[in-house]
Amino acid sequence: MLDDPRRSGRDKDQAPSDGFLERWFRISRLSYPVPPHARTLPYILGGITFIGFLLLFSSGLLMGQFYQPTPDRAYETVKHLINEVPGGRLLRSFHYWMAQAVILSLILHLLRIFISGAYKPPRIFTWYFGVSLLGIALFGSYFSGTVLKWDQESFDALQHYSEGLRFFGPIGKFMGSTEAIPLNIKIYLSHVSFFPLLLLVLIAGHFYLINTFSLSPLPFGKDSTLASLPEERMTGRFLEHANSIFLYSILYYGLVAIIALIFPAPLGPPVSGEETGVKPPWPFLWFYGLENLTGKIDTIVYASGLLFLLLILLPILDRGEERNPLKRKGTMTGGAMVLLFLIGLSLYAAISTPQVHHHGGEAAPHHESSPDSGHHMDGEGKDKEDEH
Ligand code: HEM
Repeated sequence: MLDDPRRSGRDKDQAPSDGFLERWFRISRLSYPVPPHARTLPYILGGITFIGFLLLFSSGLLMGQFYQPTPDRAYETVKHLINEVPGGRLLRSFHYWMAQAVILSLILHLLRIFISGAYKPPRIFTWYFGVSLLGIALFGSYFSGTVLKWDQESFDALQHYSEGLRFFGPIGKFMGSTEAIPLNIKIYLSHVSFFPLLLLVLIAGHFYLINTFSLSPLPFGKDSTLASLPEERMTGRFLEHANSIFLYSILYYGLVAIIALIFPAPLGPPVSGEETGVKPPWPFLWFYGLENLTGKIDTIVYASGLLFLLLILLPILDRGEERNPLKRKGTMTGGAMVLLFLIGLSLYAAISTPQVHHHGGEAAPHHESSPDSGHHMDGEGKDKEDEH
């Protein structure tokens, strides 16, 4: 049986040959056994996503020093950051491209888990932590980030957001209540405190479970029905896994930095007070396509609800020990259909001519608000003109 360096490292006597990290941080404790495939690209996508979050937190913290979230100042302060602050344009572009790179690695990570059946017991709750992380990262952090710059795209996004809140009863009212402050400031607060904190707590739970059950065996050959590799075949080391994560992260996020240098993050025209039908960023394009086709915002809420319901039901629907994708034809076909549907809708939205999505009845947003007005709602969750 292999030595567990986590235990031996803790009690080991200090040797004079120990390096700095070993001497003061007992780094060898992190050299515990993991499956040998842990250092391969498909199995480090979650780690790359994690490093991406850290880079987003740091670049966001720096940008926060130059940003004022009130609706009358937000756009101006973003322009100031771009034009006056040394390195401000690059900082903003890096944060902008990083957010998309992290969403991309998150989606690839999810696809790896899906294809390799890693959501099966004993990793069901690792999957559920992941589903929550996807929801918060995409609909929380990413969405709220697109509103902050307060250009025309942000305005359209916020119109949809305030309408969408109506579907969530008392929670929607709480989230949308603007009795004391404009919705823009609430969204800023969520973006810089609530969502990052929630993400960190969920990541901590996700990591605890990954450490507890270790990584799943490869989904091919005789291991495809094993829940975990036997100890004697855990020949990889966590530190090698971590090294792989750092190496690939430097390459991936280095590329993002180069892209940020060449292609500055766009800033649309200031808010005109009219909904103009600006297309959303690619992670939300399928929403736009769906609304183009149906003319109803309700479909966006129902479709996202259905997508998350499917993710929640997946471990219950796909039972059995088999993780080999070739032997899980039903699940793979279902997954491919959902993916093609989302990609198809996004492509359709990308090539369609921009159109304003008018919403009738009670849910109709106000179109006459002045450019510097924030978003206010009354007690019923209806939009209300800003009075200043
Ligand atoms: C903030 C987002 C996320 C982070 C930072 C993250 C991080 C990680 C890390 C570091 C691992 C270890 C190995 C690997 O990279 O594959 C992992 C494994 C795992 N993740 Fe995530 N993850 C995130 C989101 C998700 C999502 C969206 C899902 C699925 C809905 C998910 C489900 C899982 C599962 C089931 C495992 C165990 C894999 C196995 O044992 O083979 N994660 N995650």
